[in-house]
Amino acid sequence: MNETIKTQLEHRSIRKFKQESLSKDIIETIINVANQTSSSVAMQTFSIIRITDKEKKKAIADICMQPYVVDVPELWIFVADVFRNASILAELDSYPENRNDMDKFFQAFSDSVLAAQNVMIAVESLGLGGVFFGSILNDPEEMIKILNLPEYTFPVLGIGFGYPDEKPDKKPRMSSELKVFENQYKIQESYIKALKDYDKILEEYYKNRETNFRYDSFTNHVYTKFPLTRENRTKIMNFIRKQGFELNLEYIPESEIRTMFKKAPKVVEEHVFEESKMGFKAESGVRELFDKYPFVKDYLLVINPRFNKLRTLAGTVELSQMNMQQLADMGDMPVDSLIYMIESRIDEE
Ligand SMILES: Cc1cc2nc3c(=O)[nH]c(=O)nc-3n(C[C@H](O)[C@H](O)[C@H](O)COP(=O)(O)O)c2cc1C
Repeated sequence: MNETIKTQLEHRSIRKFKQESLSKDIIETIINVANQTSSSVAMQTFSIIRITDKEKKKAIADICMQPYVVDVPELWIFVADVFRNASILAELDSYPENRNDMDKFFQAFSDSVLAAQNVMIAVESLGLGGVFFGSILNDPEEMIKILNLPEYTFPVLGIGFGYPDEKPDKKPRMSSELKVFENQYKIQESYIKALKDYDKILEEYYKNRETNFRYDSFTNHVYTKFPLTRENRTKIMNFIRKQGFELNLEYIPESEIRTMFKKAPKVVEEHVFEESKMGFKAESGVRELFDKYPFVKDYLLVINPRFNKLRTLAGTVELSQMNMQQLADMGDMPVDSLIYMIESRIDEE
């Protein structure tokens, strides 16, 4: 055990920061750390854009759908950057066919992610705290516009950091036996069974943690959150292509595509839900919820296409009679998870 490992084992995301700027020295040190990160074929194919403009921070917070992004003292966006090297080549009148292929893209993507994690370690080692923002990819096209990104570049990950103004409990991880194998991949007979103990640990963690208390477990978290997405995110390859990268996709017949999970059974155990932190019950009226917190409806429309039906229900009798359980059924999710998500959104406002 040494100080570096102690810091890494104490990792937790920080989302609330003191409104205190970081010194020039600290910023410079962290930039040096990022710059020294390993780099595929030593091509150094990443860039960092440090966002200091308040308007841009606001625009990025909107894309991330996380208002607190505006108040993050340091907001850095890591960009996969093949543009720099392609420009060197162009100046030398060289245009190799592979300059914009997927191999170059993924090298640049890995360089960016590694630099971002190196920054996180440096941040934490200095007694600061931070959080990654994958949510910048909710709208890649808008991010590209905001950052004025040229072709052969792509936004990968954001990181926000500063002096912490919270000390959240450390989030337990599943046993490494489920993640670390020797020589070959190990498939479990039942993942729900293999994760039973971890589910209990995480249930306790969510029940007892000081902020954002909720009923949840790991398998339930996967069950409810995994299906949520924004349409843009499912089309990410299109945005990568638009930035000039060549996907080079070959047609693969359906019969050759692995389909192990085509019909995954519903195996999640239901647990009894009575009343939430804010007093919502399964029978609570949806109409009153939308009247009191109008932004909740927009939020639901964004996170899960199944809620699109709400658009046509606005102002109808059907909506005024709907309760939370029926709303959860519409979204095909457990009512307590839905209520937890709504409460988290209300908390954010
Ligand atoms: C690639 C990546 C993207 C992430 N994106 C977000 C994000 O957009 N918003 C956020 O609040 N947290 C984000 N996180 C932080 C995770 O939610 C967090 O790491 C996870 O819940 C585990 O909690 P911990 O970091 O406190 O241990 C991201 C983490 C990673 C690795």
